[in-house]
Parts: sequence; structure tokens; C-alpha cells
Amino acid sequence: MTDSPAVIDPRDDVLGRSRVTDTPELEAFYAELAGRNAGAFWKRANAIEPWEPETRYRPTLWRYADMRAMCLRALDLVKPEEAGRRVVTLLNDSDAGRENVAVCGWLFSGMQAMRPGEITPAHRHTASAHRFIMEGKGAYTVVDGHHITLGANDYVLTPGGCWHDHGVVAEGEVSICQDGLDIPLMNSL
Ligand SMILES: [Fe+2]
Repeated sequence: MTDSPAVIDPRDDVLGRSRVTDTPELEAFYAELAGRNAGAFWKRANAIEPWEPETRYRPTLWRYADMRAMCLRALDLVKPEEAGRRVVTLLNDSDAGRENVAVCGWLFSGMQAMRPGEITPAHRHTASAHRFIMEGKGAYTVVDGHHITLGANDYVLTPGGCWHDHGVVAEGEVSICQDGLDIPLMNSL
């Protein structure tokens, strides 16, 4: 009885795709390259340049009731002047999500709560942001000098580079929102 033939990735049969069989000499070569902060592209080419898009991210579920409770705990544990923004980061359930601090692909998402009377200092960043207001009353944001009142189900955009701050008026209620930013993409660029 003979061994069944090894299964060959069909993509490796295409001229121009990586199909190198490693040898002891090549292994030594790879070690020398690694010692010089270099590597052999053909070792990773098929993974880096897949035949068609292959996601490294997995569908991930965050239940609002759970994450709402986490956001409220963050209010008790961290002072606003210490954290700037007490954002709970949503991480994709994948290695790629952990590496890139990404909710999916090159996008960041987080949730944050603010109490009445709290403000975040004005700031700006290269990443663009969008914000869904999940609940609360009396929240506001100021984007490039435009004061915008935010209530439940409102949605606001903060284009990259625009000065902005957030707050909740003293007579308002705890406000919770979900933010989305292209931080991983901008940082990668
Ligand atoms: Fe911001």
C-alpha cells in the first residue's frame, strides 16, 4: 500500500505563486535573513496575497445590556480627567482584532458613558468618527464650533481633523454612545 499523494494547494500550481520546497540549506538561509531583520517573501506570499479576499475577522456579538453595565462600571473606576474618554473598546473575536484593536477590518469601535456635568476636552485626530447615541438626555458635542445637542437615536459625524469635544449638561442624564473610527486604518497608513 502506498501513501496517498500529498494534497497540494491548487493555488500553488499557478505559475507565479509560491511553491518552494524548503531544504536544510534554505532553512539556514531563512535563519540568516531573520538575523538581519529580513525574510523570504515566498514563505508568506500566498497568505499575504490570497487568490481572493479572505477575512481574518469573525462575526462577534456584544449584548447591549452587558456592555452598558461595563460602561457604567468604568465611570465608577476611572476619573474623567484621568482617562480623557472612558471608552470601552469593542474587540473582534479574532487574533487580527486583538492585534489591530479593531472591531472588524481597519475599523475601531467603542462605547462610552458620560455623567451629567462631565466634559471631555476639545481635541482632534486624523481618524474620522461617527457616533450613535444609545440613551441619555442633555448630551452635546461641538464639532468645528457647531454645537449639536444629542439625544437617544441621534447620530453625529466628526470628520478627520475637526476639533471636537463632548459633554452632558448638569441637568441631563447619563449618556451612552457607540463610537466608530478608522483609527487602525489611519495608523496603518
Ligand atoms: Fe475624538
